[in-house]
Amino acid sequence: MNESLFEPVPDFDQPIAVLKHCHNRIRKQIATMQRLLEHLPSAGADEQAQQAAKAVLKYFNQAALLHHADEEENLMPMLSATAQGEDAELLTQLLPKILKEHKMMEATWQVLALQLSDIATGESDALSEHDVQNFSDLYAGHMVKEETHIAPMAMRIFSAEQMASLGEAMKARRGLSQAMPATVPLPDIAAMRTDYAQKTLSEHDVLDQPIDQFGVWFAEAIAASVAEANAMSVATVDAQGRPSNRILLLKNVDARGFTWFTNYDSRKGQDLAANPHAALLFFWNELERQVRIEGTVERISAEESDAYFHSRPLASRLGAVASAQSQPIVDRASMEQQYAAAQAKFGDAPVRPAEWGGYRLSPTRIEFWQGRQSRFHDRIVYILQADGSWSKQRLQP
Ligand SMILES: Cc1cc2nc3c(=O)[nH]c(=O)nc-3n(C[C@H](O)[C@H](O)[C@H](O)COP(=O)(O)O)c2cc1C
Repeated sequence: MNESLFEPVPDFDQPIAVLKHCHNRIRKQIATMQRLLEHLPSAGADEQAQQAAKAVLKYFNQAALLHHADEEENLMPMLSATAQGEDAELLTQLLPKILKEHKMMEATWQVLALQLSDIATGESDALSEHDVQNFSDLYAGHMVKEETHIAPMAMRIFSAEQMASLGEAMKARRGLSQAMPATVPLPDIAAMRTDYAQKTLSEHDVLDQPIDQFGVWFAEAIAASVAEANAMSVATVDAQGRPSNRILLLKNVDARGFTWFTNYDSRKGQDLAANPHAALLFFWNELERQVRIEGTVERISAEESDAYFHSRPLASRLGAVASAQSQPIVDRASMEQQYAAAQAKFGDAPVRPAEWGGYRLSPTRIEFWQGRQSRFHDRIVYILQADGSWSKQRLQP
C-alpha cells in the first residue's frame, strides 16, 4: 500500500513540518539498516537486501544532505537573526552542537556507505552492527534535540513571511521553485527604461578639480530641488572582503574630502576599522546624473565632531547617545526606554558619545555620469596622480 496514505508529505508552505517529515524518513531508513543486520547473517546479500541497501544509500546520499543544508543554510541563520533573550542564549549553546553533530553523522555515514554499496551490488554481506548503532544513536539524540528545542522555537518566533521564505529556500534547494512566486504580480522589469536627454557632459566643460566639479553639480542638484541631494550610498567592505552599503547624509565637502557622521561602533564603523577603503554614490535622478567617489576614510578630529554634534537638534543628539547603532534590540519600547534614560541623564545638554563622530573620505577617483539618449551616456573620470594632480578621461558608457 502506498505509504503516503498514512503519512502525507507536508507542503513546503509548512517548512517545519517538512523538516519533521525528513526526521521520520531518517528513522525509517535507520530501521531498515537494523532489519538488514538481522537479515544478512541468514539470507546474505540477496535481492531483498540489495534493494534495502540501495534505498538507504539513496536517502542518506541525497535527501539527508539536503535536510542538513536546509538547517545549516536557512533555518539556523534565520533563527539566529530572529531569536532574542533566552531563545538567543539557547541557540548559542545548541547551534554549535548541532553543526558538529551534522559533521559527525556525515563522517559516520561515509563508513556505512562503503559497506552498503557492497551489499547493494551483492558483493558483500558485511554490515557492522557497531557502525549502525553508532549512526543510529547519533541521529536519535540529534533529532530529539531539534524536535524539542529548535522546531518549537521556529514555530513560535517566525513570522508568516519568514516561514514562507524558509519554505521557498527549501523548495529552491530541491529545484522545485518557480522563477517567481505566481502570486506576486510584477511589472515587466526588463521592459522598464527611460531615455535620458536632458543634458550633456564633455571633458572640455568640466573643471580641473573634481571637488570643484562636484560642487557645481551639487549646487545644480539643489537648484533642481533634487530630493535629499546630500543622500549618498556609502559602500564599505568587511575584514572578510564582503561589501555592504547604506544611505548616509553628506555633511561637508571641501578640498580634503567628503564628510558624514555616524556611530564608530556600527557595522560600517567596524568595516572601516578593518578596511579604510570605501565608495560613495550620489544618484540625482531629476538631473539624470550619478557621481561615483572612491577613496580612503579616516575619522575627523574630536573637535570637528563636537562642533557638528552640538549643531544638531537636541532630539538628534539624544538619539545618538541612546542608540548603539547596528546592535540588535528586543523591541521599540526598549529603544524608547534607552532614549528616556539618556534624557534623564543629560537633560538638554547631552555630551557627544566617544563612539559617535565624523568620517572623511579622501577621494582618489571621482566619476561624473550624465545620462544620454539610447544608453550612449557621458562619463568623465578623474584619477588622483602621485603628484597630487588629477587626470581626467572619458569612459565608454
Ligand atoms: C536618507 C537616509 C539618510 C541617512 N543618514 C544617515 C546618517 O547620516 N548617518 C547614519 O549613521 N545613518 C544614516 N542613515 C541610516 C543608514 O542608512 C544605516 O541604516 C545606519 O547608518 C546603520 O548602518 P550600518 O549598520 O551599515 O552601520 C540614513 C538612512 C537614510 C535612508
